[in-house]
Amino acid sequence: MKLFLDTANVEEIRTVASWGILDGVTTNPSLVAKESRSFEEILREVCGLVDGPVSAEVVSVEAPAMIAEGERLARIHPNIYVKIPMTTEGLKATRALRSKGIRVNMTLIFSSLQALLCAKAGASFVSPFIGRLDDHGETGMELIEEIVTIFRNYKFTTEVLVASVRHPIHVKEAALLGADIVTMPFSVFEKLPRHPLTDLGLERFLKDWQKVPKA
Ligand code: E4P
Repeated sequence: MKLFLDTANVEEIRTVASWGILDGVTTNPSLVAKESRSFEEILREVCGLVDGPVSAEVVSVEAPAMIAEGERLARIHPNIYVKIPMTTEGLKATRALRSKGIRVNMTLIFSSLQALLCAKAGASFVSPFIGRLDDHGETGMELIEEIVTIFRNYKFTTEVLVASVRHPIHVKEAALLGADIVTMPFSVFEKLPRHPLTDLGLERFLKDWQKVPKA
């Protein structure tokens, strides 16, 4: 399973990239708005830090404008995946961008039927938002199970990118279901390597090592 960071903050990306296990980055307009820098400048820097897909979202809502914006974003770097919202205009734009060889991450997915349409339109990734479903009183992980099953049934090559992740259990459950990718905020990513028994165990090993006679 690939692990992506869901942020537009380059310091967070630099930190996780230095651990050697970062496969890609997702951004969205809300995350970019927190950075007070131009989107293009952020994207160029992020693409220099990560050797993997970097999702950049369009803000147009009509297909012709989405396509033009997607083409502009894709020209910034070969690793850019254009993020397109799940609307009928978005489906048209996805199909058109795909036919031009531009890879698309379809976003704001809240049902398995929406995901099926994204796969048929040729999206490279679909992004179901599980945390927002949980917040809404639905079980987000059930959506992942449905999408993984449907994509396996029909051998779609579209990858399931689990988004809107709130805690490490979401990451574990996505892995158990066979999701292709999980994108998560830095606050979740930094929890993954930690376990109190690891810290205690290391402390004890280092303490015991002091008792070993030095040659
Ligand atoms: C996905 O690509 C989105 O950027 C993101 O995961 C949304 O998460 P949120 O629901 O925490 O805003």
